[in-house]
Amino acid sequence: MPAPAPAPDPERLPGFVLCRGGLEEVVEEELRELEIEVIGRHKRAVEITTNLAGFYRANMGLRSALNVLRPIRSFNARNYDLLYYQSRKTNWHKLFPVDARLRIDVKGHSPKITHTRYAIHRVKDGITDTFRKLCGGVRPSIEKRDPDVHIVVYLEKHRATLALDMSGTPLFKRGYRIEHGEAPMKEDLAAGILSLSGWDRRSPLLDPMCGSGTLLFEAWMMAAGIAPNLHRGFGFESLLDYDEALHLAEKRKLEARETHPEDLRLLGIEIDQETGSTMERIRDRYFPKSPIQLRRGKFQNVNPGPGFGALVCNPPYGLRSGTEAEIMPLYSDLGTFLRTYLKEGSAAVYTANHDAAGSFGGRQSSSIPLLNGSLEGRLYRLKKTQDDPVRSG
Ligand SMILES: C[S@@+](CC[C@H](N)C(=O)[O-])C[C@H]1O[C@@H](n2cnc3c(N)ncnc32)[C@H](O)[C@@H]1O
Repeated sequence: MPAPAPAPDPERLPGFVLCRGGLEEVVEEELRELEIEVIGRHKRAVEITTNLAGFYRANMGLRSALNVLRPIRSFNARNYDLLYYQSRKTNWHKLFPVDARLRIDVKGHSPKITHTRYAIHRVKDGITDTFRKLCGGVRPSIEKRDPDVHIVVYLEKHRATLALDMSGTPLFKRGYRIEHGEAPMKEDLAAGILSLSGWDRRSPLLDPMCGSGTLLFEAWMMAAGIAPNLHRGFGFESLLDYDEALHLAEKRKLEARETHPEDLRLLGIEIDQETGSTMERIRDRYFPKSPIQLRRGKFQNVNPGPGFGALVCNPPYGLRSGTEAEIMPLYSDLGTFLRTYLKEGSAAVYTANHDAAGSFGGRQSSSIPLLNGSLEGRLYRLKKTQDDPVRSG
């Protein structure tokens, strides 16, 4: 007799984890590490199924994701009236309180819904009319800057999904970047680059143009198994089904995964005095146990010492933070530096200046495209072996 099919878990909910293009696989792997079931991979999103505990864990533990969405209703959106009608049919009052301050955003693309502001307006009308009818004329207010509840209208071809953003503020806002240098890198991108770089999370790691240290801070948290978002607030805390005890329990579970890596070396070099001081202030305040060290000056004049097995960096692009004439020699010096000081191991250089990449040995054909805002950045990966000085790929 065939075994009876397992009963569906009533607590399981669908979810979508949004990320920047190029980091989908990395996010999928991070979800698996967090023991969250992955259903499929989409462009800039990974589909999951999980319970409330999984949503809390994903928000605290994901490194390379932007937002975790909980879809509420999906439908064919042929016109703006349907956005209103479907929004009006949703039991918003069971999801968040009438005095919640809302923000609504549209993400994705649809051939029929192209006027973002009007789409937001129609969904907002649907939500407020639902509450007005049920709550004697009272309705939630709209608050763009610091909302309690963030609703996303996710468009994919002809389908629209109304979703609650369980993250609220995007997940790259860890809370440690109280100040920063010129052209800092977003934390999700830094974590994604480290994952794609081939760094094994144990070998000594070098960032010869570390700026205010994002790559080094993210590297430390990865090596020490520290969940990056343990100490910030989330959108899910304003929802009616928020379970504070469960949130705390998931936090404790993630804290229990932390390790104390011994003999880890993380070294940054930075030419700008003030930027270097910013990095040190953030390190001392938020990562006092980390072994991150700073050498001040031009990397060209620094001998970092032997034993480095990985190099990651994000040099100036010469598009906004340098000039073209200075950039080619800088990239060529970077090539010399990594040939000199990187023993066997991997180098990963993220830049949006693809002409300059050739100067350190990066080949565009084997690089990975990763958007940085509107800049078409790429991650150039190079391998160094004993017989082969530096090879792109
Ligand atoms: C794009 S920023 C790096 C941002 C960094 N990833 C962060 O998140 O803060 C490039 C950094 O390289 C530094 N820099 C430029 N030329 C340098 C050199 N020759 N040696 C060391 N640092 C240099 C700049 O001062 C700047 O802080």
